[in-house]
Amino acid sequence: MLQPLSRRHFLSLSATSIGSMVLSTSLTGCAISSAKEDDLSDVEFSHGIASGDPLQGSVILWTRALPQDGAVSARLVWELATDNNFTNIVRSGLVDSSESRDYTVKVDVQELNPATEYFYRFKGRQQVSMTGRTKTLPSTNPEQIKFVVVSCSNYPAGYFNAYQEAAKTPGLDAVLHLGDYIYEYDAKGYATQRAAEIGREFASDNLGELLTLEDYRNRYAIYRTDKGLTALHAAAPFIAVWDDHEIMNDTWSGGGENHNPGEGDFYERRAAAIQAYYEWLPIRPPKGDLQPHIYRTFDFANLLSLHMLDTRVIGRDEQLEYSHYINKDTQQMDSEGFIADLQNKNRSLLGKAQFDWLVNSLKTSEAKWQLLGQQVLMGKMLIPGAMLSQLGKKDAAALMTKLTSIKVRLLKGDALTAQEQSLIDTVLPYNLDAWDGYPVEREKLYTAAANLGKKLVVVAGDTHNAWTSQLTNNRGDTVGIEFATPAVTSPGIETYLKLDEQGAKQTAQALTLLIDDLQYCDLHQRGYLQLTVTEQNIDATWRFVDNILSTDYTISNEHQVSYPE
Ligand SMILES: [Fe+2]
Repeated sequence: MLQPLSRRHFLSLSATSIGSMVLSTSLTGCAISSAKEDDLSDVEFSHGIASGDPLQGSVILWTRALPQDGAVSARLVWELATDNNFTNIVRSGLVDSSESRDYTVKVDVQELNPATEYFYRFKGRQQVSMTGRTKTLPSTNPEQIKFVVVSCSNYPAGYFNAYQEAAKTPGLDAVLHLGDYIYEYDAKGYATQRAAEIGREFASDNLGELLTLEDYRNRYAIYRTDKGLTALHAAAPFIAVWDDHEIMNDTWSGGGENHNPGEGDFYERRAAAIQAYYEWLPIRPPKGDLQPHIYRTFDFANLLSLHMLDTRVIGRDEQLEYSHYINKDTQQMDSEGFIADLQNKNRSLLGKAQFDWLVNSLKTSEAKWQLLGQQVLMGKMLIPGAMLSQLGKKDAAALMTKLTSIKVRLLKGDALTAQEQSLIDTVLPYNLDAWDGYPVEREKLYTAAANLGKKLVVVAGDTHNAWTSQLTNNRGDTVGIEFATPAVTSPGIETYLKLDEQGAKQTAQALTLLIDDLQYCDLHQRGYLQLTVTEQNIDATWRFVDNILSTDYTISNEHQVSYPE
């Protein structure tokens, strides 16, 4: 159940957040032609620029402008042009930065032309920011749409070379960021082992786990110094949603795995995390700067509708855990109890309001493609139960070899013994934090989409590895396809399973054999996913970097899938 912000929490945060967005309503020239240099402040543009949430006639512009000489606020100019030399400035205006929003600035520029590339920058009294490129959405069907899909950039784990490379994509329409833009852990936490060696330690004011508004703000400030991330923000508008780590690990609507007694009120912490997210991301908050509503749709004329979902904060029931169903004395699993809870028809990942909104959005869209941008894997990742209990243990490899050889014989039509058949048939979801932990709602979504005659194309992040799955309903009918992007730097399943490259390749091969709906996976490389959408098909290309420990990298290999084949 979603717990709304209490009145107390609202009051503690609202005074610092309301009225932060500047709407640009005027046309060419506007008020700025009469602005004197004296009206502007000396500022430091400390974190580049960014744009996001493009619509046909508007886009969000973002920067951070630190006042100089002890001033508490600053006044600056923003400019938007059709060329990167700013000889044809089509919109401009004044905007203020202040401590109330951590000196971040957003402008929602209006009355732009559709399908148009624009360039923008900000100016202080004597300072000019870097220049960004952005693009509005089309109003008539374009020949193609090009996205990059990214997730899970972990600063202490490595350099954001995947962002750097993605920024070079020619003709990029938008960056779909599926979350884990930051991680909340302390300086000795997850994936920090090599941070000192590679020069990726946190600043001294941000060594602890993020709990307060100041903590979250300071963490964004560190992440946004990465040159790859700066370049990607400058290259194209972001369309972003949070995953769990913008708040805390395994967030759900009433808590999170990494929120413990002694860390204060969960909703107060969540409100701080959400405020910092809205301050630092170039996003148009759908329901205002304090509300945990992030789901929204972007229409690329009638070629594609992009529905960005929240599978974390707004409606998720708490994750199930196998360990809660294992009797400590007998070590026997209460399978009936587990299945009853898993199949509970009230169990929700999206929450009713978001689910109904999504079905209505699918219904009203006339676009050829329905793309769901969301966090966790939707495809069924059901693996033999025998293997699930051995994952990460020393006999896992031998068991996997045995199971795959049985599966190969089955696929060849060989007769299996009853015991062999049972080993293959007894399958369980390995990740209960994913849609696999919410199967009734997933089936409801599949049924709703099928009833509307819509096939789903889903992109996911969260796992840190690359995956392609066909999406099938409980009758075995295909209802769509899922492409999952690997992490930018966060370690993947290969670290958890302690696999070297060869072991990771063998395991990837075994999983595609053992998991019926899984068509491809890569279990050891970091990178990003590029999607090119045309009337005929969607091309998905994974691009992997060879190195995250320095900024000296190359693209080591690619994998490409065309849908439909
Ligand atoms: Fe992640």
